[in-house]
Amino acid sequence: MTDDSIFPADFFWGAATSAYQIEGSPLADGAGPSIWHRFSHTPGRTHSGDTGDTACDHYRRYEMDIALMQRLGLNAYRFSISWSRVLPEGRGRLNAQGLNFYERLVDGLLRRGIEPFVTLYHWDLPLALDELGGWLNRDIAHWFADYAQLLYRALGDRVRLWTTLNEPWVAVAEGYLSGLHAPGHASLAEAPRATHNFLRAHGLAVQAYRAEGRGQIGLVVNLEPKYPVSAKPEDQEAAARAHAYMNRQYLDPVFFGAHPRRMREIFGAHWPEFADADMRLIRQPIDFLGVNYYTRSVVRHDPAIVPTYAGSVRQSGSRYTEMGWEVYPQGLIDTLLWLCNRYGTIPLYITENGAAFADPPITDGRVHDPLRVDYLHRHLRAVREAQRQGVDVRGYFAWSLLDNFEWSYGYGKRFGLIHVDFTTQRRIFKDSARFYREVIQARGAVLGQQGSADSPA
Ligand code: FCB
Repeated sequence: MTDDSIFPADFFWGAATSAYQIEGSPLADGAGPSIWHRFSHTPGRTHSGDTGDTACDHYRRYEMDIALMQRLGLNAYRFSISWSRVLPEGRGRLNAQGLNFYERLVDGLLRRGIEPFVTLYHWDLPLALDELGGWLNRDIAHWFADYAQLLYRALGDRVRLWTTLNEPWVAVAEGYLSGLHAPGHASLAEAPRATHNFLRAHGLAVQAYRAEGRGQIGLVVNLEPKYPVSAKPEDQEAAARAHAYMNRQYLDPVFFGAHPRRMREIFGAHWPEFADADMRLIRQPIDFLGVNYYTRSVVRHDPAIVPTYAGSVRQSGSRYTEMGWEVYPQGLIDTLLWLCNRYGTIPLYITENGAAFADPPITDGRVHDPLRVDYLHRHLRAVREAQRQGVDVRGYFAWSLLDNFEWSYGYGKRFGLIHVDFTTQRRIFKDSARFYREVIQARGAVLGQQGSADSPA
């Protein structure tokens, strides 16, 4: 063991969740419904008709869950706030009881020495706002900034780390283009408009934070490196398009104030001109960037894939998770280095990283999940390697603390470090939770010598 394998003393060891995926009680104590409530209750939208009505029952069991976080050794926890719990109609009338839940959660975390890392929007738009056009209505930037300001004021004395949006790319690609997520629209024309309004909402909420915030604010994006399958120009072009679409579509506007030129190539006539004033609003300095990393994609030209004409090629010899995502830790290093290269040095957090595997049955009260342990091990090693190469990664949040409602996959995919029995709500530490606890205790020393992040544990 060398000092090289040890993470900085102030590193955040965290886990992440989101409101709709774990809380349950979506309409309790005066909360309003969200688009995910309606979507999951619409027949045929989710696996087995699963809904977030109960989920992990975290709304009622949060104290127990904080105790589990402490047992795990976490010093940070990333969670999201349900907009319609706090503002049942999305704007206007405050639901004090809903806000109070988050105050109790934050206080409970702080009492146990766990840093709250708040996401303002993790996909559960208040239904009342969707009925006004949702992310397609330009006013949403103001609705969002007003909601954000309310939370800055209510929790800003205790919460130092804020993020505006979680993965706007997924929110648009699945919510407005494929229709696989709420609100379930499938429209090439709507997607660029929704994207633009997400970005404007982000910009306005950052601006609102500057007026009164005392901590730091950033954005969370999902990044997935794209490697061309061959040297053929058409595959190279496809990889470049897929890369612009997924990795640069949100970051170029935020850092440079301009959309990638390829967006026009991808969306054709559906890509509108955006006003300069909007682009200036979007380009607000942020304090850090949150990166959600799960996999890579090896890309080939494929005319059947809309809108990028870029398909993914399965890699023989690689391991794939239950989501069909290739396990590829080197991609995390490549992504972080690319980020620094393109956008400059900015503090980074790995705000999500994890894997769904089919967990074996519980034996003697234990859940043996060696594949998830291996995934965690290799990705944590990749984080350390990126740090050694000069990347300023300040924290890591495993996705997820608990098995939970995996959107359209319902309860069919398990990402948790902690197993949840959804009938009894019993929680059990999986081997991956035990492993993570050891890593945290040793500040990474048990991850082994540096080397290729790709050599299995
Ligand atoms: C991310 C989401 C998160 C979870 C993981 C598996 O895209 O942010 O809520 O669904 O994927």
